[in-house]
Amino acid sequence: MLPNALQPSVTDHTPVLGEEVRELLAVRPGDTIVDGTFGAGGHSALLAANLQGRGKLIAIDRDPTVRPHFERVRRHLGVPARFLRGEFSIVLGQLAGNGVRADAILLDLGVSSMQIDRPERGFTYAVDAPLDMRMDPTAEPSAADLVNEAGERELQAVFRRYGEERYARQIARAIVKRRRARPFERTGELVETIKEAIPAPARFGDGHPAKRVFQALRIAVNDELGELERALPSAVEMLRPGGRIAVISFHSLEDRIVKRFLQAQAKGCTCPPELPVCVCGREPTVRLLTKKAVRPSPRELAENPRSASARLRAAARTGEA
Ligand SMILES: C[S@@+](CC[C@H](N)C(=O)[O-])C[C@H]1O[C@@H](n2cnc3c(N)ncnc32)[C@H](O)[C@@H]1O
Repeated sequence: MLPNALQPSVTDHTPVLGEEVRELLAVRPGDTIVDGTFGAGGHSALLAANLQGRGKLIAIDRDPTVRPHFERVRRHLGVPARFLRGEFSIVLGQLAGNGVRADAILLDLGVSSMQIDRPERGFTYAVDAPLDMRMDPTAEPSAADLVNEAGERELQAVFRRYGEERYARQIARAIVKRRRARPFERTGELVETIKEAIPAPARFGDGHPAKRVFQALRIAVNDELGELERALPSAVEMLRPGGRIAVISFHSLEDRIVKRFLQAQAKGCTCPPELPVCVCGREPTVRLLTKKAVRPSPRELAENPRSASARLRAAARTGEA
């Protein structure tokens, strides 16, 4: 039987903003879907249902542990599907360069519940585990490498820039002092150092005291912002006229990159505003489908609190479909 949106999901994962993504990407039978962040395959399954057995899916993920999930989901998709393991910035660039064209591209950024819920991956401050945080466990650096090798100023900049951590300086200093005695290996050691470095009242303030440093390290370890910046141009290049791209981000730094990129592509012209007429001759490459970022509904928020920070933006490639 072909997958159908009304069937129970073929994955046990509820995709964030699933219905909104499905509406905005408006996949039709015969289309080629590219899911740049396959994860547990929740979005892929939902989108592939619209293909009604005609079309294909290209799934990308940098995490090798995703492959078995892909194999499981693939059997239920009803269309040819292949899995390409690697960073989406590289894979999308290769696909675009090889002339592969897509009708729908999705990037659902950040880490998956599967990754967070496996303590041994080291993404969470809630459990003592190896200090790792790599989405691709074969890549470098790990969070431990960064914490043990980066200079104090670099650590401070990472915590401030990617985590908006108020006590970035104190935490970076405490890390450098502690690692002189013994390198960091475990998440618990880092959590302890953070707690000791910040003033006592801040330990009980806005969420877990290690939350912002862990977010910052994860973004730096996986070069999440660089990946996004490099991937977006290739994604737009890959779209057929009328093809659509949707991006779900989970913090303001990512959302800003998506917003600015799509706005610039929708504008086309890059001439300085003081020029009376356009001399660059650049035409818009996309039409915005979302003027403002789409947020989860109150119902989704109640059912899935992890969706709270999600923001969805989408655009369609210019030209006749
Ligand atoms: C939020 S999850 C995606 C969940 C998926 N949409 C679903 O419904 O199951 C993000 C996934 O994208 C992968 N990922 C994140 N950044 C990536 C990148 N730059 N290149 C390739 N995969 C990436 C992660 O390994 C993770 O599996």
